[in-house]
Amino acid sequence: MRMYDIILKKRNGEELTKEEIDFFVDGYTKGEIPDYQVSALLMAIFFNKMTKRETADLTMAMVNSGETIDLSEIQGIKVDKHSTGGVGDKTTLVLAPMVAACGVPVAKMSGRGLGHTGGTIDKLESIKGFSVEMTKKQFIENVNRIKMAVGGQTADLAPADKKLYALRDVTATVDNVSLIASSIMSKKIAAGADAIVLDVKTGTGAFMKTLDDSFELAQEMVDIGTNVGRNTIAVISDMDQPLGYAVGNALEVKEAVETLKGKGPEDLLELCIVLGTQMLLLAGRANTEEEARKMLQETITSGSAYEKFKEFVKAQGGDVSVIEDLELLPKAQHIIEVKADREGYITKIIADQIGISALILGAGRETKESPIDPAVGIIIKEKVGSYVKKGDVIAYLYANDLNKAKISEQKLLEAYHIEEQKLEERPLIFGIVT
Ligand code: URA
Repeated sequence: MRMYDIILKKRNGEELTKEEIDFFVDGYTKGEIPDYQVSALLMAIFFNKMTKRETADLTMAMVNSGETIDLSEIQGIKVDKHSTGGVGDKTTLVLAPMVAACGVPVAKMSGRGLGHTGGTIDKLESIKGFSVEMTKKQFIENVNRIKMAVGGQTADLAPADKKLYALRDVTATVDNVSLIASSIMSKKIAAGADAIVLDVKTGTGAFMKTLDDSFELAQEMVDIGTNVGRNTIAVISDMDQPLGYAVGNALEVKEAVETLKGKGPEDLLELCIVLGTQMLLLAGRANTEEEARKMLQETITSGSAYEKFKEFVKAQGGDVSVIEDLELLPKAQHIIEVKADREGYITKIIADQIGISALILGAGRETKESPIDPAVGIIIKEKVGSYVKKGDVIAYLYANDLNKAKISEQKLLEAYHIEEQKLEERPLIFGIVT
């Protein structure tokens, strides 16, 4: 078999066989096929697409490129949750303890963020002492004992995806449904959960900007999961403006803890309840949506989700006093008011521009090696639908560098669309794909 022929076949719009897909994934992982040939193939896939069968074969080839995790020592049905990524998305920090407090084991492999803001691990690491470094045995013990653990993705998990994703990132071939679906699902399948709930974001801060594309991506991922015997469900949720009010690592931890204490933003809590409902149903912990919602709401009103979060932080070496006194989280030196430059209704807050604004402050990584500043970020004050006068504060920048803050402020103002007419409100949840 020759890589040249595989590229040519895809360039001509033909369907690749399983053997051809296995050949290029295996060869690339082992370093036997060069970047330039795989780049050409990725671009051909981008334009000519893949069939469902090809996408499923690509997924499994990436799963089989490394180790798969056996979670069978964890009692109960393990349900994983994955978000396709968004701005201000601190869902895992709230959802995982809520679900764990209902008795459902949450064994979560998370990533660090490349892009606007940190990933779940970066956020958690703004809590002094918190670490995802633990042996597999410790990870399993923690899940059995306290029902939740967050581990880092090991290099051995779907290594083919790691290489391919990095190459896609620099060859403008990320945003293709088959490539995204296979990338995400290969990691979820290799991570060993019995069932998977996907939070597929739609809107300006998401990979998929249109509703049609988001539904297509969701269906593709649900089909892949279901075909390999993992019950999979996708929720399509809004990412046309940031979720909640906080964007930036320590700021998001603070907002997550406030939500666990019943004092958080409504959209964040509602999304956690919707996703959690699907997790409890898949785990067989609840029989109806109504019952699941009630159980989840109860974890907030009783304080059990908050207590669970503290238990989890302690089990992973974190300083619980930081959670009890949020003032102990890393703090930025400057808090800068950003004011509306005209009067009217806020019709849009372009989420990815808010993300870039936070990245400029230092909340995210420009390259894999860049350090993150946990203290910096943005607190949105006014969201879509609010009426503001010129000079009203619409957001706060938390900054450690005033020069960066100036550039960040400009980006933030560009993200806000303020107009005379109020637009119709977008829903938080657009649908569920099974
Ligand atoms: N997240 C992933 O893990 N892979 C993609 O391709 C896109 C988002």
